[in-house]
Amino acid sequence: MPARIIGTGSALPKKAVSNGELEKLMDTTDEWIRSRTGIENRYIAVEETTTSMAVEAAKRALENAGIGAEELDLIIVGTISADMCFPSTACQLQDALSAVHATAFDINAACAGFLFGLTIAEAYMRAGMARTALVVGAETLSKMMDWNDRSTCVLFGDGAGAAVVRKDEIGIDGIVQGSDGARGSALVCENRLVNNPFIQNGNRIDYAKMDGQAVYKFAVKTVPQTITEVLEKTKTEAGQIKYFLLHQANIRIIESVAKKLNQPIEKFPTNLQECGNISAGSVPILLDFVNREGKLERGDKIVLAGFGAGLTWGAAVVTW
Ligand code: ACO
Repeated sequence: MPARIIGTGSALPKKAVSNGELEKLMDTTDEWIRSRTGIENRYIAVEETTTSMAVEAAKRALENAGIGAEELDLIIVGTISADMCFPSTACQLQDALSAVHATAFDINAACAGFLFGLTIAEAYMRAGMARTALVVGAETLSKMMDWNDRSTCVLFGDGAGAAVVRKDEIGIDGIVQGSDGARGSALVCENRLVNNPFIQNGNRIDYAKMDGQAVYKFAVKTVPQTITEVLEKTKTEAGQIKYFLLHQANIRIIESVAKKLNQPIEKFPTNLQECGNISAGSVPILLDFVNREGKLERGDKIVLAGFGAGLTWGAAVVTW
């Protein structure tokens, strides 16, 4: 596989919101949120936007990679919470970075967005269509929450993560991905309704709705299956993997995956306690945290895995 991750970056909003602060806003408790999900805190955008955080994360990733934006020939942003219908977040990011040689577009694969973006970047490189790509997951989920619905709004946070990917001999050993639109109703948020002079539907604003238990069951079954599949595809033993970096939705999902893969929980770093669920941002932000903590050495093997609305899922084995 001809693509290596050569730099990472992330950006979070300034405003930290603890479970205790949410207790003051709604009928919830720190104990309920912590015991059901593991989440203790999240960062909520006040001054920031999806694009501004994508720009910050991208600049840090480029700096970490030691390359300039003019070297990018592909920019992919995974997001379900773009600031604008158009232009895309990726095109706005291209402009902010002056990445004048890049082709830029957004993708919507919800919490699997970073994994899907990585897959596309790798495929472009395999096809000889790109040499250096920026793959970003960026979200402002707080604007999509019904802040009167305690069953969803306590779970999510805002932020962005980015990775610079460059054509190389080793790096991404293999990726698998999938989707199941038939089960899409488990996690939905409507866009604008059809509205024109010939039909008057109004333009009511919709918010994210989730069948939490359906998503939970999907995750604990599909994630270990997908990771097993990508391990088999790349002829890698689970024991060879240093870290499994999973989408940060719920600590119980992560514990269940660790158990099913028969791997120690210490191999599953988390930041959901601090950041909550940031959809497409979760995996690249966690990757950046682990990278900046100096926990990754050249040659280490890691697994990245995302899963979410669509339903969508993906997993990659990566040699650092
Ligand atoms: N505070 C206090 N009580 C609450 C809250 C809250 N924030 N939210 C719900 N409750 C109440 C409910 O009203 C319900 O009360 P009732 O029994 O009197 O009706 C009770 O808690 C239990 O509610 P459930 O929804 O059954 O709680 P459950 O144990 O299923 O936990 C949760 C909910 C945490 C969402 C769980 O289903 C889950 O983890 N699902 C996985 C989905 C997920 O993580 N999604 C993230 C987005 S998708 C993705 O990223 C892949």
